[in-house]
This record gives sequence, C-alpha cells and structure tokens, in this order.
Amino acid sequence: MNIRVGAAQIRPILGDLDRNREIIRKFAELGYKNELDLLVFPELANSGYNFKSREDAWRASETIPEGRTIKLLEKLSQEYSIYVVSGINERHEDKLYNSAVLVGPNGFIGTYRKVHLFMNEKDIFERGREFFVFETKIARIGIMICFDWIFPEATRTLVLKGAEIICHPANLVLPYWQKLCGLRALENRVYIVTANRVGIEGNLNFTGRSIIVDPKGEIITEASRTHEELIYADIDVTLSRDKNITPRNNIFEDRLPEAYVLF
Ligand code: ACM
Repeated sequence: MNIRVGAAQIRPILGDLDRNREIIRKFAELGYKNELDLLVFPELANSGYNFKSREDAWRASETIPEGRTIKLLEKLSQEYSIYVVSGINERHEDKLYNSAVLVGPNGFIGTYRKVHLFMNEKDIFERGREFFVFETKIARIGIMICFDWIFPEATRTLVLKGAEIICHPANLVLPYWQKLCGLRALENRVYIVTANRVGIEGNLNFTGRSIIVDPKGEIITEASRTHEELIYADIDVTLSRDKNITPRNNIFEDRLPEAYVLF
C-alpha cells in the first residue's frame, strides 16, 4: 500500500501552549496541502522541552485525551483526513509523562509514554512501561520517543509487535541518530519517520535534520539542520512486511532467542 508520510520539523516555544498549537495547526494544514496520510510532530510539541523545574513543566502539561492540543489534533485529523503523531507533555493524576499520541480521522487512537528518559527528564517525568503498535487503515504504527533510539530493544520490540512504520517524535541533541537510523531501519526492515525539532533552549541546541528512512536503510529524505520545514515521502508499506534480507535469511525466522539469554 502506497501512502505519503511526513515529519513537521518545528520550533516549539517553551511554555507557550497557545503559540505551539498555532504552529501545529499551520503544519497540519501544510500536510493537508501536500496530501499527506500521516504526519509526525516532534517530542513535547505542545510545550517545549528544557524546563527549569518540574513546576514549570507541570504548568505546561495537558491531560490526554481531554487537553486542548489533543482536541485540536482530533479536529485537524478529521478535517484533513490525516493521521497525526505528536509528542505531548502529559499530566495524569499527580504525575507527568513525556508522551506521544496517535490521532486519526475518526478521533483519538492511543498514547505511548516514553520509556527511556534522557538526562534531566528524570527529574520531571515518570517513565512509561510498554511499547505499543496501533492498527490503522494505512499501516501498523509503532511509536518511540527520541532517546529510545539508543536502546535497540525499543525498535525491535515494536517491530516484533508488528510495526510497519515507526513514528519517532524527537528533540535530539546528540549527534548520532541521523548517522545510525539507517542501520536500525535495515536490521528491522521497517520505515522510520523521525520528526526532530530545531532551535535552542538554554544549554540545548536541537539538531534538526528530521529524516525518513526505508526498510533497506536508505535515507529517503532529510530536513535542514536549522529551519522549520515539512519533509515527506511516498512509501510502500508492504516493503516493511518483507523480512528477508537474502533469499535464505529472514530477520525474524533466523533469530535464535535462546542464544541471547544471559546465564
Ligand atoms: C531526548 O531524548 N530528548 C534527547
């Protein structure tokens, strides 16, 4: 099945949820004009990233699915007939989560809470406990968030659970992922759409270069280092289902989990 997927490389404003919703609205409209089926926004797209304190992060959080940003995403998804994945600073009871939601033309679909917290996120957010794959009309969509990338188990778990496209909202600051994501896509034979952000918050300089890679590990398209922009590509989702890397090597069937056990 051929679909058009994109990444919105944006510059959220720290703590300014109204402004960030305007940015999201603008890029969703751009996605619609370019006939996208799926659009990914960065990590914490509703709130910005580098909070000085948990209190500041709390003030910029929203509940899921009642929050205003989720309601906006639902409206845009329906109006534009597009699936959207977006990072959300989520408040649940007295806890905060670095989350991402998937919303479709028929409404809210699900949430993933970041499992592997990076640096000072550990002072603010609780960690998630599970990876999810969501069945949609266009593809089986798995979600990981930013620093999850350094744990190969994240991608592998999503793929073993059936993900055909991994949506990857990010606020990357280390210089590695864009060099390595092709390998991660190849070893799992999966599409990866990384929506990174640009700009500077305090001592963090976000690395841009949002990227879409195919199941052969090839970069299909990549954004600039510093500018807000939309990137997109036409992909054939069925390529993710072919796990043969040679006629006699299938990356699922040739696995030997008992050889990977530590004694
Ligand atoms: C990160 O996980 N935001 C680096």
